[in-house]
Amino acid sequence: MTDNDLGAKIAAAAEMILASRRLVVFTGAGISTESGIPDFRGPGGIWTRFDPDDFTIQKFLRSEETRRKQWKILIEGGLFSNVRPNRAHLAIAELEEIGKLNCIITQNIDNLHQKAGNSPDRIFELHGNMQWVKCLDCDERYTVEYIKKKLKSGIEVPECEMCHGILKPDVVFFGEMLPTEVLDAATAYSMHCDLFLVVGSSLVVQPAALMPAYAKEAGARLIIVNIGDTPYDSQADILIEGKAGDVMSKIVEKVREKT
Ligand code: APR
Ligand code: ZN
Repeated sequence: MTDNDLGAKIAAAAEMILASRRLVVFTGAGISTESGIPDFRGPGGIWTRFDPDDFTIQKFLRSEETRRKQWKILIEGGLFSNVRPNRAHLAIAELEEIGKLNCIITQNIDNLHQKAGNSPDRIFELHGNMQWVKCLDCDERYTVEYIKKKLKSGIEVPECEMCHGILKPDVVFFGEMLPTEVLDAATAYSMHCDLFLVVGSSLVVQPAALMPAYAKEAGARLIIVNIGDTPYDSQADILIEGKAGDVMSKIVEKVREKT
């Protein structure tokens, strides 16, 4: 794509955002790679180094070895690093500030939209959030800070202090149901939006990847900002192949000029 093409697409995307009244932004791991968190299916992503089949809820419950691996993945996935929101997150926070955002639907568990300044009640985390860890036996909840201390002290598989039960991050594992009320809200927003903006997702994991389909069925326009193909590319009104931080900050700069 030449710079002119990119410039024209960025201008067109800004126009669509300005004209929209119910904008939903949908994000995936690709929005956080510029903050240092690896994605899953991009080059060097988590599932290019670990086997996703190892990380079903069934295996997590059945084997201490899988629990050890899962905690290792979470540490590699940025659990310890003090990750900061990047320009893409900040651009989306600015869309809310200027009154152009209905909600964010995210597959990410990294809390970066909250850290960027978006209101928590406008963020629907389909796959949960890494900030809490809960005991599967007695429901005791622990902060991720508490768990980090345990892991840093050399404990590889933290267990509940109260009952020695299995501790599980408050995130959705393969084979687990998504939180119903979050999924229902995200579905409703997708079905009623007039513009659906995808940033940094391969759009292959269901039911999250149904959201753009709901939006298109409702007559919404679809913008995709991603490096690499997605199954929705042919349905996108604007398809921008580019780095989320760069593209999103340029789009919001154009929006800001006209608000
Ligand atoms: N800018 C734009 N796109 C990017 C960037 C970037 N800086 N970095 C990576 N990408 C793209 C990748 O090329 C890839 O197409 O973002 C996409 C991320 O796709 P995935 O890694 O599949 O992440 P995601 O779509 O969020 O995965 C969904 O799968 O494993 C589960 O629970 C996990 O929530 C995750 C779900
Ligand atoms: Zn317990």
